[in-house]
This record gives sequence, C-alpha cells and structure tokens, in this order.
Amino acid sequence: MSTTAASKGLAGIVAAETEMSYIDGERGILEYVGIPIGELSAKSNFEEVIFLLWNRRLPTESELKQLKLDLSERYELPAGMSNRLLALPMNAGPMHMLRTMISALSMHDPDPNNIELDQARLKALNILAHAPTLIAYFDRYRRGRYLVPPRRDLSFSENFLYMLNGSVPTPTMARAFDICMILHADHGLNNSTFAARVVISTLSDVYSALTAAIGSLRGPLHGGANEGVMLMLNEIPSLKDVEPYVMDKIERKEKIMGFGHRVYKTKDPRATDLQKLAQQLAKDTGNEDLFAKSQAIEKIMERELAAKGIYPNVDFYSATTYHCLGLDLDLFTPMFAMSRIAGWAGHILEQLSDNRLYRPAAEYIGPHDAPYVPMKQRS
Ligand SMILES: CC(C)(COP(=O)(O)OP(=O)(O)OC[C@H]1O[C@@H](n2cnc3c(N)ncnc32)[C@H](O)[C@@H]1OP(=O)(O)O)[C@@H](O)C(=O)NCCC(=O)NCCS
Repeated sequence: MSTTAASKGLAGIVAAETEMSYIDGERGILEYVGIPIGELSAKSNFEEVIFLLWNRRLPTESELKQLKLDLSERYELPAGMSNRLLALPMNAGPMHMLRTMISALSMHDPDPNNIELDQARLKALNILAHAPTLIAYFDRYRRGRYLVPPRRDLSFSENFLYMLNGSVPTPTMARAFDICMILHADHGLNNSTFAARVVISTLSDVYSALTAAIGSLRGPLHGGANEGVMLMLNEIPSLKDVEPYVMDKIERKEKIMGFGHRVYKTKDPRATDLQKLAQQLAKDTGNEDLFAKSQAIEKIMERELAAKGIYPNVDFYSATTYHCLGLDLDLFTPMFAMSRIAGWAGHILEQLSDNRLYRPAAEYIGPHDAPYVPMKQRS
C-alpha cells in the first residue's frame, strides 16, 4: 500500500460513515438523523434525542417512556462508587474526576469487556445515567454539602439540576438546560468522537472508549473552549473594554475562544440557538452585561475575521447560558461531556456494527541508515 502526503490534523479526510449527524459547514446546517437541530431544540427533549441517535429514528410514545424508565432506574451509582468518589481530592478538576470515575465504573461491572451490541448498549445506558450523578455528587462533596440522591420521577435534565442544587429546577431552567443537552449531543467525527471510535475499533471496551473521549473533550481547542470563553468574559471589566481587549488579542495573533471551527465556515447553528437562550436567561437572571459583552465580541470578530471564515461556535454562547443557569466555570465542560456521551455511545455502537481497526499511516520524515553511535562518543 502506498502512502500519500500527510493531512495535518486529518483535515478533509473522511474516516467513517455515520447515520447520526450531518453537517454542512458552508451553509451552517446540522441535522441529527436528518432532522434540523433547530427543530429538535424547539420541539424535542434530551431522552428523545438519545433514542433518535441510537436507533436512527424517533421513538413511539411507549418507547420513549421505556427509555426514560431505563435511564432513571440507573441514576444511582453502583455500590462502592460513592465511597470511591468521596475519596478523591476535593480540589480535583471535575473533568479529571469524570474521566477517572467513568473508567472506574468498569471495575464495578462483572462483565466489562462484553461488547456484543445489546451489552454495549446497556453499558452505555448505565454510564449515561451515572454521569450526572457523578458530577452533581462531586460538586456537592467539594463544597462540603450533603449529597442529594437522584429522583427517578425526574427527567435527565431536571434530576441533574435537582441533585446539583438540592431543589427541583423551575420549568424554564430545566427546559433551558435540556436544550443545551440536545444541542451538544452529537457532531459528526469531531475529535472526541473519533477518539471513542478509534479505541473501540480495537475491540477494547465501552468504558475505555468513553474514557478516551472525555480526555479528548477536555482540551481547550475542543470542549474546554467553553471555560475559556467564560474566563475571557470575566477578564473584560465592562462593555467599553471589549474593543481594546479583542483587538489586542487579534493583533497578537491569539485565538479568541468560542470562535472558529474546522468544519463551519459560517455561524455554527448551535450558536444561533444558544444565543437566543443566553439572551433570555441573561435577562431573567440579571446577567445582561455578560450577554452584552458577548454580543460586542461577536460584532468585532465579524468585522475583523469573518473574511477568514471565523464565526462563533457552540462554545461561545454556551458559556453565558451555563453561567446564567448558576453553574460553576469548571462544570461547563463536564456539561458538554454529559450530553456528548449520547453521541459517543451511538458512534461506538455504529463502529461495532461494522468494525474495521483504525490504523492510519504516518509519513516518515526522519533520516535513514543512521549510524549507531557508541555512548562514549555522544556529545
Ligand atoms: C476550532 C479550531 C481549533 C479549528 O482549528 P483549525 O481548523 O485547525 O484552524 P486553525 O487553528 O489552523 O486556524 C486557521 C486560521 O484561523 C485563525 N483562527 C482560528 N480560530 C481562531 C480564533 N478563535 N480566533 C482568532 N483566530 C482564529 C488561526 O489563527 C489561523 O490563522 P492563520 O491562517 O493566519 O494562521 C480553531 O478555530 C480554534 O482554536 N478556535 C478556538 C478554540 C475553540 O473555540 N474551540 C472550540 C471548537 S467547537
């Protein structure tokens, strides 16, 4: 087999087929199984989206009811996992906690290596149901608060906010959070999804594949960008400081977090939805200044960098949204992960149903026939 020149960052390489999400980066279109993302964020709910991604069709009423039941029955952690969580350093980063604890879940599974499709699906369901509990328990533990056990009568999103805050969220807050979960659930062969598919393609196990995906998502060029956006918003004292701040970064050729995308060369459709959500929540929670700063940044970026195809991505307005929902900065990326487990798991199942080991080639650019220099002669 001959090798061709490397595509740095695998840009433009089609490495898998998927029936889950479709992206048109030029026209700013994202669809899950053919349904435009705006339709889903307006009309659907997270549980329905999980079913859609895993079955490539919308559920019937009874199928949706069953999925909600299957998920809620699994909200509580397996015996021993809470103690493991409470033994972690309180100052650990929540993404490090999540990556470690999802890996640790495999040791509470009597048959962790089983990747027959129905078994892999059950494991994915368990992990998806446990992730909110892990995050909420850890957040309360590190604050020295009592743990709030999950409530099976609540939806995925309601239950997470309930466990985190100790009170049932208002319908507006729960709906806003659920929309965030819908918008982050899947996005083609992004870096973390690719990581999950690469790992499972060795016929490893679901836990290992999801652990790798979480590690990938953490990076500031990927899901970690939402934290970067909030740090930037906090660094800008007021609206009048936005222009000099952004211009200074552009002049120094520094990246503005929450802008740019490998695939989108126009505004990310998820950013459009999140912008509306952020605007409403900012008004409801007295955070109008934050939203105004975000809009001012977008305007300057459009003036300066739209010609290069750099527009807001999903992380830009999700930062304001999560802040208005009362979430701490270091919980932003875990929120992304919590939702994306649905997409990662769907891709793991897709990969397993038609697997071939990922093994790309590298273009060797080093020397040949180099001498082996004895130790004493090396300088
Ligand atoms: C997402 C991202 C990694 C895509 O990367 P990529 O396809 O490899 O593109 P590059 O990083 O090579 O950027 C291409 C050009 O656009 C510029 N650019 C890209 N994103 C930029 C940003 N957010 N702010 C300013 N300039 C940016 C780069 O500096 C580069 O300019 P150059 O050609 O003059 O060197 C990149 O846009 C980025 O780092 N964005 C900020 C982090 C972020 O928000 N990530 C979340 C993605 S959902």
